[in-house]
Amino acid sequence: MKKIKAIKASEITPEHLYLSRRKFIAGIGALAAGSLFLNACPAPETSGGEQPADTLTSFDAVTGYNNFYEFTTSKNGIGFLARDLKISPWTVEVGGLVNKPQTFAIEDLLKKFPPEERIYRMRCVEAWSMVIPWLGFPLSKLLQEVEPTAAAKFVRFTALYDPEQMPGQEDRTYDWPYIEGLRLDEAMHDLTLLSNGLYGKALLPQNGAPLRLVAPWKYGFKSIKSIVRIDLVEEMPVSLWMAASPHEYGFYANVNPGVDHPRWSQSSERRIGEEKRRRTLLFNGYAEEVAHLYAGMDLKKNF
Ligand code: MTE
Repeated sequence: MKKIKAIKASEITPEHLYLSRRKFIAGIGALAAGSLFLNACPAPETSGGEQPADTLTSFDAVTGYNNFYEFTTSKNGIGFLARDLKISPWTVEVGGLVNKPQTFAIEDLLKKFPPEERIYRMRCVEAWSMVIPWLGFPLSKLLQEVEPTAAAKFVRFTALYDPEQMPGQEDRTYDWPYIEGLRLDEAMHDLTLLSNGLYGKALLPQNGAPLRLVAPWKYGFKSIKSIVRIDLVEEMPVSLWMAASPHEYGFYANVNPGVDHPRWSQSSERRIGEEKRRRTLLFNGYAEEVAHLYAGMDLKKNF
């Protein structure tokens, strides 16, 4: 079994250098090129003081504090438990209601759709958050390639099922494999990425190697890791979390400070690495980009 090489400290770009490089790139017009989707200081959604500027969460926190229930329900030490996950060879099957179903080897997929950098906020439904410099390509490019038919309304994503490698899948509390879904227009939105890396490096297993979804205006659980299948479907998919606890986890899972989780408030969040809590922003601060997708919908009902 292939060992995942640990990343040496010397190979990691320190966050402060990374940040100044980002600022530099932003300054020379990457914003115009559309590569930076993070507003340095998003407009406050409600009154009550300025929202502090966003800064990148450290590489150590992004790779050391995770949710990956296929391995464990604990957030720490997933890197160790997942260190031997076999990510090569890896294929992603894309099918369902499409004219051109295809199975892609991961390396071909990344050659066809070269990854770009996108810095996004990530807000977990558990009320913690991070800011992560992802590498990835828009999911829309892959969907265009396979040509969804007129009957396709939703996209269903399936993660790896392999209890021998993923000990958490012995836990029958959950209906494995991990499934997630998006409406087709959400999936086609330019913010929606298939990510293969972060901080300029290939994804580590704990972050969903070799390919995971990133939909930054939705709670983190929508961003399914270690994807092996993508299907275009007519009916709204039932995600692992909807099946496990339908009154707590809805299909949309849009970040919304006005709709509390039945067991806790969603009005604020703990930004990993910061002392003070932050106010949670509607659609995680991406309202300008995505609010139109939900025009006329009752976001309390469609939570
Ligand atoms: N994908 C799979 N396959 N299994 C999981 O348990 N957890 C989700 C999401 N994707 C999860 C998953 C949750 S709850 C969150 S918050 C994010 O992954 C966490 O991503 P990160 O560990 O890279 O920060």
